[in-house]
Amino acid sequence: MIEAIYTFPSNFLWGTATASHQVEGENTNNDWWLWEQELGRIRNGHRSGKACEWWAGRWKEDFDRAATDGQNAHRLSLEWSRIEPMPGQWDHNAIERYREIIKGAIDCGLKPMVTLHHFTNPIWMVEQGGWLADEIVEWFERYTRLVVGELADLVELWITINEPNVFGYEGFLNGGFPPGGGSMRELYQAMRNMVLAHAASYHSIHEIQPEASVGVAHHYRGMNPARMWSPLDRWVTNFRSRTFNDSFPQAVSTGQFHMMGRRERFPQAANTQDFFGLNYYTTERVTFDLRKPTELFTRGFFPPDADLSPGDFIANEPAGMWKALQWAHGFGLPIYITENGVEDAEDRIRPRYLASHVREVWRAVNFNWYVRGYFWWSLVDNFEWERGWTQRFGLWELDVETQERRRRSSADLYAEICKANGLSTDMVARFAPQAFRSIFPGASLEKPEDQIAS
Ligand code: GAL
Repeated sequence: MIEAIYTFPSNFLWGTATASHQVEGENTNNDWWLWEQELGRIRNGHRSGKACEWWAGRWKEDFDRAATDGQNAHRLSLEWSRIEPMPGQWDHNAIERYREIIKGAIDCGLKPMVTLHHFTNPIWMVEQGGWLADEIVEWFERYTRLVVGELADLVELWITINEPNVFGYEGFLNGGFPPGGGSMRELYQAMRNMVLAHAASYHSIHEIQPEASVGVAHHYRGMNPARMWSPLDRWVTNFRSRTFNDSFPQAVSTGQFHMMGRRERFPQAANTQDFFGLNYYTTERVTFDLRKPTELFTRGFFPPDADLSPGDFIANEPAGMWKALQWAHGFGLPIYITENGVEDAEDRIRPRYLASHVREVWRAVNFNWYVRGYFWWSLVDNFEWERGWTQRFGLWELDVETQERRRRSSADLYAEICKANGLSTDMVARFAPQAFRSIFPGASLEKPEDQIAS
């Protein structure tokens, strides 16, 4: 086989992403911990418990694995409830621990990207109204200032809020996340407060650390009309995508927040991103459905021939990554893929998912778009929110009881990609032969001598 390789720029960041509550363990002072104690909230009654024991020190062995496998960056998040256990009271031991973890990452060659808010909230903050209270903007700014003041010498890449849309819809409309759903009005209120909190946080970071690079991790869900010929399906797809995908990024780009027919101007939120963080997982078909008021009278589903993850949660749709990148590129900022991944305990679909998605990222790079890095979700299996431990996203498998880690074959593939700073025909032939033709359409799996003979 003639070797071909899709090569990335020399300073490209290759990493994995994690979030505090999903990996640290014993996060007893936030709303998710309380939520997990309630009957029926988490699949199979699972709890985060000790998670991956990062707080107890196992971050070190996981970072070592990542670094040995050629990664040069890691995205992690800080647990607000540890840093500020009571309003205005700072736990300096917790901050010290985060310094140690972040320094540990740097020492083994992983550039840190740090998220300030990844779904979880201190209990005191929720008791005072959480994201529906207007004071959240001040609270988030105060927390930002403290953290950035303490960590600016170690961290250059900051994410203020992870997936405002997923957090908003799950928490304030659908109810999969605490506080357990509400109404369109509450969703709007939470989202607008996130726009304002992000803007305040962005400006404070730059005041303290002018050279910092700050963004949001935006979740983009690919959506195609179920029936292309149906004007109604086309209209609702467009509406669902605009509401879910576009409202937040538009607001922090233009300063105009527009959602579900309401519009507000927040000039302080205009141009408050230095890079565009993109989380992409999958693409769905969308149709009109009167029975789905909480989904804005739309219904998303995967087609019968989709290449689905074992829990039917994610369809392997790399074309959607390309669309997501085109969309992100439209914001005119450097792009980091801040999450991309698939749940797959058996590692059956992960290798082809990984290779196919990396190939789409390369296409964007090849157009000279400013794609700066790629963070796979995730390094090791971790607590998957309302789906508990039933979904496994890790390059490394975790035995939750013994804390033993076992390498999946996708870890080998990702290590080869990171070390080569590219994706080659040889890698795809060995790890994801089913995707070979779509990834390298011009190449042949056969050896040249076989080709001549045939
Ligand atoms: C994202 C989220 C992560 C992780 C991932 C896999 O929405 O930011 O925390 O759970 O999905 O489902």
